[in-house]
Amino acid sequence: MKIKTLKKLLGFATVALLGGLVLTGCGKSNADNSLKNIQNKKELVVGTSADYPPFEFQIVKNGHKQIVGYDLMVAQAVAKDMGVKLKVVNTEFPSLISELQDKKVDIVMAGMVSTPQRKKAVDFSKSYYTVKNVLLVKKADADKYNTAASLKGKSIGAQQSTTQETIAKKQLSAANLVTEANFTSLTSELKNGTLTGVVTETEIADNLVSTYPDKYAVAKVPLTTPKEDAQINIAMQKNSPALKKQINKTITKLQKNGQLDKMFKKAQQLQLEYK
Ligand code: ARG
Repeated sequence: MKIKTLKKLLGFATVALLGGLVLTGCGKSNADNSLKNIQNKKELVVGTSADYPPFEFQIVKNGHKQIVGYDLMVAQAVAKDMGVKLKVVNTEFPSLISELQDKKVDIVMAGMVSTPQRKKAVDFSKSYYTVKNVLLVKKADADKYNTAASLKGKSIGAQQSTTQETIAKKQLSAANLVTEANFTSLTSELKNGTLTGVVTETEIADNLVSTYPDKYAVAKVPLTTPKEDAQINIAMQKNSPALKKQINKTITKLQKNGQLDKMFKKAQQLQLEYK
């Protein structure tokens, strides 16, 4: 009996040892080239969805269309610190994660928060902005919607596959939810009266209100932003520790030297300038 147990134990130990060797082997063949690959091609490709000022939006400067915004300023700094050029790929927000998984882009910067669900699919850098959510309404309705119940039966918009979609579903469940792949469609529908309100982040709403003070207002209905929906980060393919380390280094630097704040303010001004 005793010998049998001993044999069994030895058997387990052998299996564990072999398993360990196999795992170590795998680790070696999958060396982390996440940063090296980008440096070798001398280009960092960032995926974004340029419908989200001040994070990213299109302007026409000297007759040329250009994508600008806070995310792009941070992206420029990240690319510069890596010693590579920046290339911007513009796609609709709902397809950004799969573009990243399919390696069509190296990173995603799109005012994207690191939800637990997204964390299963991709990795995230440290945070470079914190957001909250509000309901954007027409100026004329500024004092009309003060509770979730007051929105019963009203059409409320949120961008598809965003945290706003989840927040609207959970917190404004009495309203009819309308989703669009493009954020710009939501503000048009709000303007033409198809929608009563749009769930969005404070920065987006505030910027729209200050750009078009006679068109929009922030409703008083309180919305809660869950902790996991508040941190904006740079997304990258899973298992890219070298890339993540390099990106975090740049973010920390920009945080410490006050550049992040400056970039955000500059992006807000750009929106006003090119509205
Ligand atoms: N922060 C929200 C999210 O991560 C919305 C981001 C929308 N971004 C955009 N570029 N349209 O789900």
